[in-house]
Amino acid sequence: MTVTPAAPEVVLSVRNLCISYLTRRGRLRAVNKVSFDLHAGETLALIGESGCGKSTINLGLIRLLPPTGTIDSGEIVYRRRDGQTVDVRGLTTGQLRQFLWRECSMVFQGALNSLNPVIKISSMIYDTAAAHGMDKKEARDRALDLFQKVRLDPRRVFNAYPHELSGGMRQRTLLATALLLRPQVVLMDEPTTAVDILTQRSIIDVLKRLREELNFSVIFISHDLAVAAEIADTVATMYAGEIIEMGPVAEVFYRPRHAYTLGLLEAAPRLSVGREELHSIPGSPPDLVEPPPGCRFHLRCRFATDECRTTPPPLTTAPEDERHTVACYHTATILKTRQEELARD
Ligand SMILES: Nc1ncnc2c1ncn2[C@@H]1O[C@H](COP(=O)(O)OP(=O)(O)OP(=O)(O)O)[C@@H](O)[C@H]1O
Ligand SMILES: [Mg+2]
Repeated sequence: MTVTPAAPEVVLSVRNLCISYLTRRGRLRAVNKVSFDLHAGETLALIGESGCGKSTINLGLIRLLPPTGTIDSGEIVYRRRDGQTVDVRGLTTGQLRQFLWRECSMVFQGALNSLNPVIKISSMIYDTAAAHGMDKKEARDRALDLFQKVRLDPRRVFNAYPHELSGGMRQRTLLATALLLRPQVVLMDEPTTAVDILTQRSIIDVLKRLREELNFSVIFISHDLAVAAEIADTVATMYAGEIIEMGPVAEVFYRPRHAYTLGLLEAAPRLSVGREELHSIPGSPPDLVEPPPGCRFHLRCRFATDECRTTPPPLTTAPEDERHTVACYHTATILKTRQEELARD
């Protein structure tokens, strides 16, 4: 397989990634032709409804898909600090073990409940460090420093069992552990979903500060548009396994050009609007074993025309910002609709 080398400032380059699961009903294409570049220090938020493929992308990027999942095609190229590129799909199991944590780490969806209850935090840290040749003293110093950075009482947490920590503390512990081996990329799947709003607030603050200090890149998965808007530099909207719109966060939120992104924005609660009814997007996401022809969103789209029903819209670039890409035939109408809504609020 030929691999395109990533540009120097790009740490992770993904091209035409396709991932499927084998199910009883046939092959389910959970991720379809996904492409993006993640730059050094950048936070990319993946947003979209449940089942659109967000977690599958993250698991695929580090090759931790369940046995029924396979990467069917595409490129995943990672650039190390020394400038060498790594073809992630080509890594052997041993190489992959070294790659994880050291180059790219992950805070899993639902990880709060997955900490082993009978293993102390210190043992978890030592095990992770030992697997990568970091000695005990360095691991301990590094962990205590990171715990301090995420505003935990370092010694108390280091010597604790998971059940002795609150949900927010465990989440911050996981975040610190993900940074133990100084990875360039951290994948975070819904890190603030299972905690209350104040804890969520503090995790976001901690993450922002850590990023400034340590300058790692993040792929941040969230259902919550407000969280994504606050934390991300770039946002990608996913629908039915595809990235259908992507761009700088302010561009996508204030000047959306895809009907689905518009729908997500209209459905997000706004404090300023008081008790006005929220809009929901009618219908539900399509079956990924047999996706509809044309634009995958057309069955739920109030702007759909004949073209949308038959031919998938190509990815195009917004005239105002070349970093803003979108796959929709009605970009101008959608942009205008959003502008009118914002003017009304
Ligand atoms: N192990 C699996 N076997 C079969 N299908 C799966 C498996 N895991 C996920 N899927 C399917 O793949 C699609 C994408 O799932 P994925 O978990 O990536 O979505 P998601 O965007 O992370 O959703 P959520 O927001 O609910 O976490 C869904 O249709 C889901 O049903
Ligand atoms: Mg998920």
